[in-house]
Amino acid sequence: MVNIDWSKLTFSYTKTNTMLCCSFKDGKWSEIESRTDDSIRLSAFAGALHYSVECFEGLKAFRGKDGKIRLFRPEENAARLQRSAKFLGITPPSTELFIEMCERAVKENLDFLPPYGTWASLYLRPTLIGSNPQLGVKSSRECLFMMLCSPVGAYTGGNLEPIKVVIARNYDRAAPNGCGCYKLGGNYAASLCSFNIASSQGYKAVLYLDPATKTYIDEFNSSNFFAIKGNTYITPKSDSILPSITNKSLEQAAAYLGMEVERRPIRVEELAGFDEAGECGTAVVITPVYQIDDKPYLESDKVTSYKFGSADACGEKSLKLYRFITGIQYGDIEDPFGWCRFIE
Ligand code: PLP
Ligand code: COI
Repeated sequence: MVNIDWSKLTFSYTKTNTMLCCSFKDGKWSEIESRTDDSIRLSAFAGALHYSVECFEGLKAFRGKDGKIRLFRPEENAARLQRSAKFLGITPPSTELFIEMCERAVKENLDFLPPYGTWASLYLRPTLIGSNPQLGVKSSRECLFMMLCSPVGAYTGGNLEPIKVVIARNYDRAAPNGCGCYKLGGNYAASLCSFNIASSQGYKAVLYLDPATKTYIDEFNSSNFFAIKGNTYITPKSDSILPSITNKSLEQAAAYLGMEVERRPIRVEELAGFDEAGECGTAVVITPVYQIDDKPYLESDKVTSYKFGSADACGEKSLKLYRFITGIQYGDIEDPFGWCRFIE
């Protein structure tokens, strides 16, 4: 038995029983291998290490009120990994292989699947890397696909704890016509410098603008942006943001709950008219934002602040959406969309 205080979990690494590996070589995938050691043997010349030939996914498994285990929309993650891999020119696992490895990872790590009622879950991190030795800048011929997992709790602070974020106008995470819409490790490397400075100033996340014109809101370093105005759910339309599966689900949920839904370019000045704002994504779920500071230079003190609701409580509409989505994931309410995949 593992000794974990589930309700105190944060979004950090915990060693589990196993990780799964599958290699692509000579045009075919190997058998799935289960390993207790989560270190790997890799050529120091692997494309992943030099040219960021790497893409990954993030999804969660939940232990429900009814004792059943649910995976949230894994086929969407498989499809997004396939898109990312295509961009990198490497071979992705099929949807069947992806889902088989998700299910097996959960089954082999049941000790680490948090109990119902703790708001924790088992985070799965499917990771695809270019593995053959290479020197020239090109797509890798051989790949290693790994299914990693770790039990997790809230990404920042506590569940539903509102956060303060910053728009850092002198930094971008993505380029126009670049790779912001794919889930590549390199995108996160591009966000680290601004995130580290913002973090030292007390901000929990960086909100990036569209890199071409710096006029519209794009997304956060590890999540999408949404806002509520009256009865409307509003979220950015942009070619340089990651198509979030959580956000897509929230749009459907909002419409189902009788709200209007708008996916459109959002000008920064519009922030002044929003009632609620937040981050959404697998890791952050819904994290309410109570203040957005807009800084022309992250390093300077010049700032325009936008405030939403209270710093102590999640806004009413965001809370309603949070309860609906997590209710489906933990089996508290019926899943009208068939989003959950049960693990027998
Ligand atoms: N945007 C970025 C940059 C992310 O890293 C993530 C996390 O996966 C998201 C958005 C949210 O996507 P999803 O809801 O599919 O997890
Ligand atoms: C996720 O939400 O799954 C992410 O990948 C975000 C981040 C932790 C990289």
